[in-house]
Amino acid sequence: KTASNQLLVIFGASGDLTGRKLLPSLYELHVRGLLPERFCILGAARTEYSDDEYRAFEKVHIRESLKNKEVDEAELDSFLRRVFYLAFDSTDSAEYHKLKDRIHQLQQEQQLPDKIIYYLATPPVMYELIPTCLKENGMNVAGSEDGWRRVIVEKPFGTSLESAERLNKHLIHIFDEKEIYRIDHYLGKETVQNILVLRFSNGIFEPLWNRNYIDSIEISASETLGVENRGKYYDGAGALRDMIQNHLMQLMAFTAMESPSVFDPEPIRDEIVKVFRALRPYKTHDMDNLIVRGQYDGYREEKNVAPDSTTETYVAMKMFIDNWRWSDVPFYIFTGKKLPEKSSEIVVNFKSTPHQLFAGQCSGGSCNKLIIRIQPNESITLKFGLKMPGAGFTVKQVGMDFRYDSLSKNYLPDAYERLLLDAMLGDSTLYARSDALEASWRLIDPILHHWKEEGAKNLFFYAPGEDGPIEKAKLGMVPKDCPCQSC
Ligand code: BG6
Repeated sequence: KTASNQLLVIFGASGDLTGRKLLPSLYELHVRGLLPERFCILGAARTEYSDDEYRAFEKVHIRESLKNKEVDEAELDSFLRRVFYLAFDSTDSAEYHKLKDRIHQLQQEQQLPDKIIYYLATPPVMYELIPTCLKENGMNVAGSEDGWRRVIVEKPFGTSLESAERLNKHLIHIFDEKEIYRIDHYLGKETVQNILVLRFSNGIFEPLWNRNYIDSIEISASETLGVENRGKYYDGAGALRDMIQNHLMQLMAFTAMESPSVFDPEPIRDEIVKVFRALRPYKTHDMDNLIVRGQYDGYREEKNVAPDSTTETYVAMKMFIDNWRWSDVPFYIFTGKKLPEKSSEIVVNFKSTPHQLFAGQCSGGSCNKLIIRIQPNESITLKFGLKMPGAGFTVKQVGMDFRYDSLSKNYLPDAYERLLLDAMLGDSTLYARSDALEASWRLIDPILHHWKEEGAKNLFFYAPGEDGPIEKAKLGMVPKDCPCQSC
């Protein structure tokens, strides 16, 4: 499938996201011949640049962002010829005529059809204002029958149930639901999409994929970095909003959902929302037993972080999905900054054999695991017990590995490449739908309220490089390494 000719307008074009992710991903799509023949990017921001100055400014960022890959200078220049720039104040509706004129001019000069994606790569405070201004200037609807408008909204999509609902309502009043693309970059990761293929294209996993055979599931995203230069945003957000409400809950949905009857966006998104709606809400008196929040030592001294901040940089939570498939199977979801390693993975812990022939040896629930490694070293590993060579019957855990680099040696596309291309194609499968977002906020909101009331009570500290606060042990997760005497 190739996308039709179109124009991409990026608001926030001089910002970090545009230089670090969007333009490098678009460059990759250009090199791979995946962009339509007539495709232009119009960057819009307040800083004054000419087209050429903007291209020179972003050329540096694209090179920096692709530093581990070979950059073909001629290809880069030919890509940059697709890039244009407009300096204007996107907070002022009266200035949108400048954008309208520039779009019109580009459409004429470059023979582009009336098909436009607006990408809001701006601070979240602009997510309501820009669409409002577009509407006031008649730019939210296409002027011709075969034209269209789409809008891509970055995360965070709301900071609470109420704000997410308000933003949804606002956007739906300006664009159709099917024109709104709410990005969650985790869904653009190859390994995340492969969860669906692993589960639904193989007959061997699905029969085991339920409460009868699965003991528990862990879904984690650990990071070694701290908040770096994002203190201002992060201190208002925290790990629950920053990572769990979106990325990790989406991973959970892919892991837990039923198979859709066809592989189309809406049936898939219908199944996702069913998972979120079946999540067992936390009762206030249970929250402190089922959720552990932590903060790394030194976080309060980070730039733009309040000296008495109670913002969590670590969360581990035990969740349940109240439906037939998953009743009483714990889902352990955890994430944190300044942990010992950078890794995101899904670990499916299978139940023990019904009767233990090799008691005390490797045959318990923590021995049989399927590990889906999202990043880095993308891989899938099955762990199980086998007899050690030699006398007697000593059982030891072994593993069978599949590594992604055996499928594709040099190239695993960045999440944004996939997501941008999908939006150009009009495929919203890997974008969050409003009902799923609201359902996920419904679980998260009461926790945020509870923490607000508690303040620093039940906030546990951990040293950078430690595996989160020790209090997480109370959740009862299966140990990472095999605890059997023989392993
Ligand atoms: C972002 C969060 O959405 O995801 C960051 O705002 C986090 O805090 C990042 O570091 C992690 O993404 P990845 O792809 O590096 O796992």
